[in-house]
Amino acid sequence: MKNSLKVFENIGELLTLEGASRKEGRRVTEADLSIIPDAVLVSHSGKIVWAGPAAKFSKDILAPFGGEREAEFIPLGGRTVTPGFVECHTHLVFAGDRSEEFEWRMQGQSYQDIAAKGGGILSTVRATRTASAPELQVLAQERVDRFVRQGVTTLEIKSGYGLNFETEKKILTVASQLKGPRIVRTYLGPHSRSPDHPDLQSYMERILAHDLPKMAREKLADRVDIYIENGFFDLALSQAFFAQAQELGLPISAHVEQLSDFGGTALALQYRPQSVDHVVYVSGETLQKLAQSETTAVLLPASDLYLKMRYPPARELLDQGARCALSTDFNPGTSPTQDLSLVGVLARVEMKMKLAEVLSAFTVGAAHALGLAGAVGSLTTGKASDFAVLDCSWRELFYAIGRHPVTDTYRAGEKL
Ligand code: NIG
Ligand code: FE
Repeated sequence: MKNSLKVFENIGELLTLEGASRKEGRRVTEADLSIIPDAVLVSHSGKIVWAGPAAKFSKDILAPFGGEREAEFIPLGGRTVTPGFVECHTHLVFAGDRSEEFEWRMQGQSYQDIAAKGGGILSTVRATRTASAPELQVLAQERVDRFVRQGVTTLEIKSGYGLNFETEKKILTVASQLKGPRIVRTYLGPHSRSPDHPDLQSYMERILAHDLPKMAREKLADRVDIYIENGFFDLALSQAFFAQAQELGLPISAHVEQLSDFGGTALALQYRPQSVDHVVYVSGETLQKLAQSETTAVLLPASDLYLKMRYPPARELLDQGARCALSTDFNPGTSPTQDLSLVGVLARVEMKMKLAEVLSAFTVGAAHALGLAGAVGSLTTGKASDFAVLDCSWRELFYAIGRHPVTDTYRAGEKL
């Protein structure tokens, strides 16, 4: 990759999302997709050095990078190019499955009831603790490959199925060894009560005294997350966690307002998090504050579908100027699907999001949610040459559930 010069030519439509990037993912319209018909993209050492209409491309552009002799020309056959998708919220490293619980839920038991009986997250914790690191690695890599085939070039992965230092470390280490996309590792130790502690408070004491500082010291995670909800972590415990994460210099995200209006969003916003995720029950003044903040609202409609919940107030958030991201929330409990097309269709059908907003949410918005907007999410000079090649027009994206029009996924100018 070092010093390699590549000219991707005969691009039918290049969606740079330059406009959406300039607006930092807020109030995005179709014009902000910044579509260039019949385009060329030049990549050097994995970064974009030029992107524009073929008519304006000249070999002189290559001169500073070794000239035409050094360049590899890659014709894309008139296909469409979009920024690589950024999957900004997944729980991808786990063992076992919860298909049986899904049946129970569909027959009337609630997510919280199953959790209170030791099922739910705790059942995945048992399977994940038992699995060896190599076993987890194989399972996780298959799942990563499934995302790459859908055009994903940046992937966030949370821990949270260990609930003790050793297994949380095992999960984050597996995550860091996955091949393909850029990986962002999130420590989600406070995901549930832990089988090793009598209550949430004593587990949080352990996290604050030992697990979180050690995570930071050993640089095992890039950021942190916590599940704030009735029956899970309350506001006081969450506040203590945020305060320490901030002190340790770890960026913050949080699962908030997923099942009820519990107050997690308002609390989290005091700590300037990168993202607040789910926000199904956010409303009123808190919604307004979120919209005006630097925090990205990560919307996860596949889990709302599986939990038969309502959907987040996307229209209100967007109209008030919020930056939104979309993601699968892939996990064995509330969202066993990895399908980006399903998420995008739910956003359009159930949340009244416009196609341009959906596209921006999966790229520019999600890049912001991970603090990576300077490097990925849009195809402008200086950013990574991370993109997806489609065999159809961008208008066919997030239209047919299960159809994945991505023919090739490139990260840093290299085909994955
Ligand atoms: O984002 N609800 C908290 N975390 C996950 C679910 C994890 C699980 O049920 O295993 C979520 O929905
Ligand atoms: Fe989640």
